[in-house]
This record gives sequence, structure tokens and C-alpha cells, in this order.
Amino acid sequence: MTLAAHSESSETTRTPAATKRRLVVVSNRVAVPRPGRTGGEGGLAVGVKAALEESGGMWFGWSGKTVDYEQGEPEAASLSKAGQIAYATIDLSQRDYDEYYNGFANRSIWPLFHYRLDLADFNRRYLAGYQRVNALFARRLAPLLRDDDLLWIHDYHLIPMADQLRHMGCQQTMGFFLHIPWPSTEVLLALPNQRALVQSLCAYDLVGFQTEEYRKAFLDYCRRELGATILPDGTVEAFGRHVRTGTFPISIDTEPLAKAAEEASESRQIRRLRDSVRNRDLVIGVDRLDYSKGLLVRVQAYEHLLRAYPANRGRVVMLQIAPPSRMEVPEYKQLRNEMEGACGRLNGAFAEFDWTPVRYLNKGFSRRMLAGFYRTARVGLVTPLRDGMNLVAKEYVASQDPADPGVLVLSRFAGAAHELDGALIVNPYDLEATAEAMQTALSLDLEERRERYRTMFERLRIHDIDRWREDYLSALAA
Ligand code: F6P
Repeated sequence: MTLAAHSESSETTRTPAATKRRLVVVSNRVAVPRPGRTGGEGGLAVGVKAALEESGGMWFGWSGKTVDYEQGEPEAASLSKAGQIAYATIDLSQRDYDEYYNGFANRSIWPLFHYRLDLADFNRRYLAGYQRVNALFARRLAPLLRDDDLLWIHDYHLIPMADQLRHMGCQQTMGFFLHIPWPSTEVLLALPNQRALVQSLCAYDLVGFQTEEYRKAFLDYCRRELGATILPDGTVEAFGRHVRTGTFPISIDTEPLAKAAEEASESRQIRRLRDSVRNRDLVIGVDRLDYSKGLLVRVQAYEHLLRAYPANRGRVVMLQIAPPSRMEVPEYKQLRNEMEGACGRLNGAFAEFDWTPVRYLNKGFSRRMLAGFYRTARVGLVTPLRDGMNLVAKEYVASQDPADPGVLVLSRFAGAAHELDGALIVNPYDLEATAEAMQTALSLDLEERRERYRTMFERLRIHDIDRWREDYLSALAA
């Protein structure tokens, strides 16, 4: 069995806890427990927390705070402990935050890896900040490490971190998991320093991707641009190192979420939602306010639906939840303005005195409330233009009432489309086809809705967040 096929095997068996070695997780954000903080965490935080809760270990990363370094850089990470998990966090200076997080991570890599070359900014100051913060992370983490630790480093903010640690003499086993897409070689070539960036990935022992497509694109780059040898099991031989690669689609806590959705559906808030929708069909979208999520094309497709199938006017309500994200990055501010314009225009053109076609909310809700919203919605609309996985698609499915489930309309450009074959798969750039799929979703009979739901729920029940973590960690420790 090749590692690449790892997560597709042994459908029903669970691997035992991968290792007795201490697990050290590194990610840009760290979900340090704080009084009054309930839910609202993304897939990375939920998955990482579950991994650490089971095995114990340390979680290292940015505190989420920016500070003035007038007194010089803080020497060490701040340490705290909750249950089995030790937290180690560092603050960033405003300059580091601007150049590393807002700069290289979110204005260079993020747009490029999501195929938005038109939005990418390859300012060299950003790259220098990115390297500086990765080196800072490595300097602050290294003194906390033990020889037999297993390091699991996450996402595009921290690609060069293992290389930095290796230069400091750290020999631990190190794995990397990319939560976002890996672009095709032709697109990646536009990044000025791509060769050095990919070379730094070769410092890891295992590099994990969300889908086979992304893994193959990575191998293609290594073969074509680095002259690497690719072994039949997907191991890359380059720069005197062997780097294993694998596909590990991230998932959700399927069964607990299904239960939470069932309970939430009896809550006061969800009753209020149902009362406000009355006998109309609810169509829901939940996304960070990000240009990769296809929010504008979704509103346009909805407009097509109302024009092409006018019987839906007064009969359908769209609830679009879009919490603001990365608002210091100009492209995100612009999207916010464009979305306000698009939703305002749509309501202006179609609303009646007793019906508003789209309810647009710029705020977040707890996972429990969202699960209740999903269960109430007849259609879940997930139409990113490009997305590493998209956990909203999985959460929508898990939250459905098995006796009367809703229908998922899902972009073919979300990693989740490789798994959720019971969804109506659409090309979100094709507004008319997306509108047709919405119309189909609204009219599917109960038997077909149940059948589509059953296959997807079963997949998610087996391939849940525990399976993701276990598959990755056993591959890393192997
Ligand atoms: O999808 C990639 C990702 O970095 C996730 O890991 C995270 O939950 C999300 O984007 C939010 O990003 P940010 O940390 O910039 O708010």
C-alpha cells in the first residue's frame, strides 16, 4: 500500500493511538482556552485540539496579539497548561504581523494558491517578513523540544519552519500539512521565490495534502523544476533527503455534530429562525468573507434563479452568513463593499413588502447554532472558486435530519467535492448552471434526498476528524 493511498484503506478499522512520543503541534493561530470562549473554531483548531487531547502534548504558535517591541523582543514563549495540553505562544510585532501574516501569507501565497494571480502582491518586504517570523518561531520553539518529539506543523504560514529548525540542529521527525490547495506548476511558477519555498518543504519527513490532485501538482513541480526523483510510493528524493507525501482529507467531528444539530433544532433561536422563514424554503451559505469563497457569484446565481424560475419569488429565502476576515488586507475590504452592493441591489430589485430575498449577516455564530441553521435549510450552498477542503460542506451534511434531509450544492473546486458525491456538483463560474442546480435542489423528492444524504453521511461517519488525525500521525510516526 502506498502512503498516497493511506487514507482510502481499511474503511472500518481505527488505527490505535499513533505513537507514545510527545506530539508538538505548530500552527499560526493557537486556540488557547479562555473563559467565555465557546466554539467558533475552524477545522484546523478543532482537529489539532482533538489530537492533543487524546495524546497530550504541546501546541505552539502566535498568541494572536501584536505588541510594541520597544523593550526588545520577548526572549521566550509564554507557557500555560489546560488538561493534557501545554500551550506555548509568542506575540508578534506590528511589523511582523503586517509583513508575515497580512503580507506574504495573505497577499502572496493565499491569492496565488487560490488561483488569483490578479490579486497577488509579491513585495520582497513581505517575503523577508515571512522568513523572519518563521525563523523567530523556530528560535522560540527549539529550546522547548525533546529529542524524540513528533512535530506536526500546519499550513501555508509556516512552510519554511522545519528548514529553520534543521539549520539549528533539530533532528526530530517533522511533518507538514497544507490546509489550502497546492496550485498547478504553471501557476506556482509566478511566485518569485517558489524554488526556495519548495526546497524548504524538503526538510520535512512527511508532507500532507487535502486531495490527490494537490499532491500530484506538488510532485509535478518537484519533478519538473527541482529535477527530483519521485519513487512509486510518492516519496520525493531531492537535496539529499527523502520526503514522503500523502493525502489526508481533513474532516469534522461527524457524530457529535449531528447530535448537536438535533438538539439545537429545538432551541429557542432555531425556533425563531423557523418562525421567521415560515413556510418558505431556506437556502444557506456560511463562509468567511474571502474572495476564494465565491460569494459574489453565489449572489449572482441566486439572482439567475429568481429570474429564470420566478415561482421562487416569495417562496425562497437565502441566508448568507459571512463573518469579516483579514480586514487589514485591501482585497478583503473591497469584497465587503462589493457584497454589500450586490446584496443591496438584489433586495432592491426583488423584495416585496412581506419578503426579503437575501438576509446578509457579517457576523459569526457558535458551531452549535450553525448546526441548527444547517438543519433548518433545505439547500446548502457551498460555491468556492477554489478551496482546500471546505468544512462547511461537511458540516451541512452532518447536521441534516436523516428523515428529511436538505440538499448540498457544491463547487467542483472545493476539495470536499472529491468525497461528497451525493451533492449536486456545480461549476460556480457558470451562473446559469448553478441556478439550475439550485432549482433541482429545491425540487428533489424525499427519497432522492435521503439517498444522497445517506451516502455522504456514511462517508463522513467513517472519515471523521479522528480518522484524519490518526491517519496522519501514524504515517508520520511510521
Ligand atoms: O483555511 C486556511 C485557514 O488558515 C484555516 O486554517 C483557518 O481556520 C482559516 O484559514 C482562517 O484564517 P485566519 O487565521 O487568517 O483568520
